[in-house]
Amino acid sequence: MGDHRIGTVDDTARWVAHHRALESARPDALFHDPFAARLAGSTGRAIAEGAAPAAGGGDGWYLTARTVLIDEAVAAAIAGGCDTVVNLGAGLDARPYRLDLPAGLEWIEVDLPAILDHKAAVLTSETARCRLRRVPLDLAGEGLANLLDGLADRRVLALAEGLVMYLSPDEADALADTLLAAGVERWCLDLSAAGVGSVMAERNRGILRRAPWRFLPADGVAHIEDRGWRADRIEPLFPAAVRLGRLDSPEAHRRAAGPQPDPRNPGDAPWSGVVSVVPAR
Ligand SMILES: C[S@@+](CC[C@H](N)C(=O)[O-])C[C@H]1O[C@@H](n2cnc3c(N)ncnc32)[C@H](O)[C@@H]1O
Repeated sequence: MGDHRIGTVDDTARWVAHHRALESARPDALFHDPFAARLAGSTGRAIAEGAAPAAGGGDGWYLTARTVLIDEAVAAAIAGGCDTVVNLGAGLDARPYRLDLPAGLEWIEVDLPAILDHKAAVLTSETARCRLRRVPLDLAGEGLANLLDGLADRRVLALAEGLVMYLSPDEADALADTLLAAGVERWCLDLSAAGVGSVMAERNRGILRRAPWRFLPADGVAHIEDRGWRADRIEPLFPAAVRLGRLDSPEAHRRAAGPQPDPRNPGDAPWSGVVSVVPAR
């Protein structure tokens, strides 16, 4: 069955790239990623097309909303003075090629070696809009601290889009601690809380069987804040997708207009959001 075509965690990058290609092809596209279809390739398409629709209406709405919100967060961080972006679990994200970025910005992409090799091969004749470096690294290991050591004099935005849910809770906590200890200026990530676990259970047996979502903290944003961070921007994905026109049923509008779960204590609610955090002190 197509449900099982994700073989390793880096195939998830092909799956989400395919959704960026679908959004880019819409006449009312909210972003244009002209590289996404090539990067996703036939594997990304097959994974996405073989997946049963996710509970709650497919994958497109939250992947599109997430991309839009993180595009905005990147622009805000650069406008605020960040001169370096370290994209953790960068996968097939093409922001260094598609966003309007200062030429002097350094963008560092970190991911497992095979997916970075694939990306470099596909984009070999394209030109990034800023300085671009790729660093193959397993983020479940300890190499990140060394990389960040070399950036001590920089104003770093760390990005983690679609990453932390694939880590174990201990690995995710270690990542939060490493970024804090390294003195990064800001960290933007998407976070899904424990209530998403039941929504994802079927996916984790099917399309995501070999790359299950593991870090889904019951205390949501408070989990990160309890490790020394302070959230200065929290954008829940569900109402964002309704506002952006990517969830349009009467039921979705009704739910988006109603009270939203507390992102610091979402309980059993299926809460996901894009969060920007800064060191608390
Ligand atoms: C769902 S994809 C998201 C990719 C990209 N950030 C995006 O939004 O298009 C998850 C990415 O995290 C990477 N990843 C997962 N676990 C990792 C680990 N332990 N070390 C490095 N990268 C990892 C995968 O290889 C994959 O590229």
